[in-house]
Amino acid sequence: MQERGQFSSRLGFILAAAGSAVGLGNLVAFPVMASKNGGAAFLFIYLFFVAFICYPVMMAEISMGRATNRNPVGAFSELSGGDKRWRLAGMLAILTPFMIAVFYTVITVWLVVYIKEVFTGNLRGLADDTTFGGIVSSPSLFGYLIALLAVIFLILLGGVKGGIERLARVLMPTLAVMLILLTIFVLTLDNASVGVSYYLVPDFSRIDLSVINGALSQAFFSLSLGMGILITYGSYFSREDNIPASTRMVAIADTSIAFFAGLLILPAIFAFDPNTNTDDLSTSSVGLIFSFLPKIFLSMELAVGYTGASIVASVFFVLVFFAALTSLVSIIEIPICCWMDEFKISRKKAVAIQAVLLTVFAVPATMSLGISDFFTNFTSYGGVSKSFFDLISDVFYETILPLVGFIVCVFCAHRWKVSGLKSELVVGDPNFEGSWLEKYINFSLGTVIPAVLLIVFISTVSQIYFA
Ligand code: PHE
Repeated sequence: MQERGQFSSRLGFILAAAGSAVGLGNLVAFPVMASKNGGAAFLFIYLFFVAFICYPVMMAEISMGRATNRNPVGAFSELSGGDKRWRLAGMLAILTPFMIAVFYTVITVWLVVYIKEVFTGNLRGLADDTTFGGIVSSPSLFGYLIALLAVIFLILLGGVKGGIERLARVLMPTLAVMLILLTIFVLTLDNASVGVSYYLVPDFSRIDLSVINGALSQAFFSLSLGMGILITYGSYFSREDNIPASTRMVAIADTSIAFFAGLLILPAIFAFDPNTNTDDLSTSSVGLIFSFLPKIFLSMELAVGYTGASIVASVFFVLVFFAALTSLVSIIEIPICCWMDEFKISRKKAVAIQAVLLTVFAVPATMSLGISDFFTNFTSYGGVSKSFFDLISDVFYETILPLVGFIVCVFCAHRWKVSGLKSELVVGDPNFEGSWLEKYINFSLGTVIPAVLLIVFISTVSQIYFA
């Protein structure tokens, strides 16, 4: 049996899990969703879901990992006494991060190109409307893709403590400081207050069923839930440590960063163009960051000069890149951990296998935005033509996460039993017994929470595929 990795301390775990959680979802998707969907009204719904739905599911996932010391496939299988059907559920929790890694990698490659362009003085070019389309359809992306994959797999070769935790220890505090400084800078600009009130004054008229669905899916994605990540990270978590308290820290860190990102981006938009038509913001999140943000940064030229504007833009893109990198590393660790546990192979071999597999899928996904016609018009459903990239993102990001969350709850409540979960949660947290949290989990984990997740799953499926 191989030596399994472990985080060096509770702080190490919190930073690594926050490194996974804080990513494109916080810095890009959240501000866009909040601005489209009623600002603080959306924020309230989001907070409600994080506290009452996601937090218990997070603890359940981490407990499954720590109780078994295994990856998702091993954890489901061991806790169910080797039941094949539950093993299948574990496989779904491996396949999902595997595929999410594919589209997340493609977006991160674009970020690398953007950073290079800004560093070489081409912010003005990036702000041009046709540039984004040009970049994503240029074969030169492959060079960046290979370089990025090389960096990621080198980090993963370093293992849990020397790779993942070390990366998070350096990048997470840096990221938080950069974000706060950038936010303060933007808030001091003229007109920023219009953006602040747009963000913080709730508009409940925008809330409908699809916004509520969106808020829950976003919370799942942002907290890295429903993907086997927390099961795997739980398996690297020490038995002396407190799961409820550490999980709470991760959820708070993730949500705060999302909140600050909103406080940065919306005021920035209004400061530089007070006449911003808010309907323009309802383009997709990917579209927003890549076509809209360079324009915002460029419009700072009047106040701080071209070099100043380029510096601000590079700080921002580097920040997003750091967040994406720590998330990407966590996503790719899941299958690696599975290959190591289930096939008893070394980390080196598992990393090599995963590097090949990811490259095989990432190449066609990279070609999906214009390089190859076949992958660009790969299929169509719900009345829309979809690329290979869209297909992966629709199936694995939009649809599967709440389903895996549902399965985790049903499993923990009805197969492992709440009593099994509880006996894991009290390890490292003697106060759990008899707490309000315990009562809440007893009551909701097998009932309300899976019911909400199932409803969201069904309504998402009907919206995307049968619109
Ligand atoms: N939670 C990360 C984000 O908000 C993304 C992520 C998804 C990370 C899935 C790991 C797994 O962007």
